[in-house]
Amino acid sequence: MSPRYAHITGWGMAIPEKIVTNHDLEKMVDTNDEWIISRTGIRERRIASDGQSTATLAAEAGLRALEVANLRPADLDLIIVSTSSPEYLFPATACLVQDQIGAVKAGAFDLSAACTGFVYALNLAAQAIRSHSIENALVIGSETLSRLVNWKDRNTCILFGDGAGAFVLQASEEVGGVLSAVMRSDGSGGELLVVPAGGSRHLTSLQTVYEGQHYIQMNGREVFRFATRVMSQATQEAVAAANLKMEDIQWIIPHQANQRIIEAAARNLEFPMERVIVNLDRYGNTSTASIPLAVCEAIQDGRLKPGDRVVMVAFGAGLTWGSVLTQWTGPFPTRRKVRPKRVRFWARLRSLLRRLRRRLDGLLWGRGGTA
Ligand code: COA
Repeated sequence: MSPRYAHITGWGMAIPEKIVTNHDLEKMVDTNDEWIISRTGIRERRIASDGQSTATLAAEAGLRALEVANLRPADLDLIIVSTSSPEYLFPATACLVQDQIGAVKAGAFDLSAACTGFVYALNLAAQAIRSHSIENALVIGSETLSRLVNWKDRNTCILFGDGAGAFVLQASEEVGGVLSAVMRSDGSGGELLVVPAGGSRHLTSLQTVYEGQHYIQMNGREVFRFATRVMSQATQEAVAAANLKMEDIQWIIPHQANQRIIEAAARNLEFPMERVIVNLDRYGNTSTASIPLAVCEAIQDGRLKPGDRVVMVAFGAGLTWGSVLTQWTGPFPTRRKVRPKRVRFWARLRSLLRRLRRRLDGLLWGRGGTA
């Protein structure tokens, strides 16, 4: 088999309209704009409205990425949604996205590696393409972490925001795309950043809700120390794995958690901050969505260009961390035009017809048609 590469040919983002500034937070908890900016770099974040959810944001970002790549949902073989705020324990949010966009021949699953999830998902989709197992993949990072945040806890509520970002990956024999990746974990630090209740260990009960165990709990100082250590390490490892040097890298796109963590990583790497993409001031920490959101903005404002070598590097709960080195590609030439509105219409119709058929089948076979 000839060698194959996984190229990023489409990208898209979806962010809620509602902005919550640091000044808004001053009215909710004992904090202030100056403290939040100096300790984190965050000025405002986006918060999902009632009608928005992890799946709707994911589908919106995914469709935009397909539009850029000019790829129809029906051409997708795989959808991975990395998220820490899935719609349900099951079914996977990725399956809801599959239905919303009408990706009729795609496998779909969620990937749970907290804020490192997007980097893991990108690597797994790229490996599936490189091994000739699939042709086209949609990788999405989507979050509505605002729903897992305790808005009375000043340690955490200042940090997180909602949003989604997506990449389309496509196979080609041209050298480029995802060149190397690093995936690491250390479960001994699991309790440093955790939502204690709601899983099988501590089922949701009146007691867990009363104690606020269904909200994010974090040891900020420990996470900070861990993050500053692993960000530069994972970047260097991905660069070495691709037989490159730091001088060969044009951009670092880090997980957008804290300005000071990002600056510390750049300092350790002796990499200029002008070539590190940062947009956390406007979105806060959007977990798995943060890297694709930063990539989309860097493309929009003309910084990131085809041919550039980029390291995307992340850390998060688990503990997990990882990086992906990619040579930026852009859309493959095609005359096809994908229109998101039309795609959505047909996907809705298809979903409705499938539900109807299931109901009729149920009635015919005497099972009441509830599935
Ligand atoms: N507003 C005002 N004061 C606050 C505050 C807030 N929102 N949150 C904490 N404080 C106070 C603390 O109570 C503490 O007061 P004390 O000294 O009287 O006890 C003081 O500020 C310093 O707290 P500390 O936790 O040491 O601050 P810090 O400089 O470590 O910054 C974080 C806190 C959370 C911003 C920082 O630790 C961090 O970003 N950690 C990483 C978190 C992260 O990235 N999580 C996501 C991983 S994907």
